[in-house]
Amino acid sequence: MLTKRLEKALNDQMNFEIYSAHIYLAMAGYCAELGLEGFENWFLVQYEEELFHAKKFFKFISSKGGRIIITGFENPENDYPSLLSVYEKSLEHEQLVTSRIYDLMSIAHEEKEYATTSFLQWFIDEQLEEEESVANIISKIKLVKDAGLYLLDQEVAQRTFVPPTGE
Ligand code: FEO
Repeated sequence: MLTKRLEKALNDQMNFEIYSAHIYLAMAGYCAELGLEGFENWFLVQYEEELFHAKKFFKFISSKGGRIIITGFENPENDYPSLLSVYEKSLEHEQLVTSRIYDLMSIAHEEKEYATTSFLQWFIDEQLEEEESVANIISKIKLVKDAGLYLLDQEVAQRTFVPPTGE
């Protein structure tokens, strides 16, 4: 049984994951406009991951007998000055997600809701990977500049969505 406070906080994060998916879908659209199919693919995979995260929250809230509430979403940013700026925005966004997950974890700890702390631990580990993966691409984009962008595009084109086992 979730308290109303925790139920709301979990719902807010579920909706924020869907909002994140919208942001990445818009970024995929920007990469498509640039003709960078690999980066378009990378962001489309990111979009799927965010929907997967939202679904994890959905299932968890539901399994705890909570009420699912879907809200409206702000329009994502569709225009960027460069590919680098898209990834810099992604990193900022993932850092925001991490701080939100930490806040949620604090509430769960305060309430001694250990099923929720266990559930949230997966997201804490996931955020570490997400921030690292985006930061790595930022470093590579800065290194390769335009000449290497084509090769980097080929590399990120290999990314596929693989749901974690046991889901
Ligand atoms: Fe669901 Fe990219 O954090």
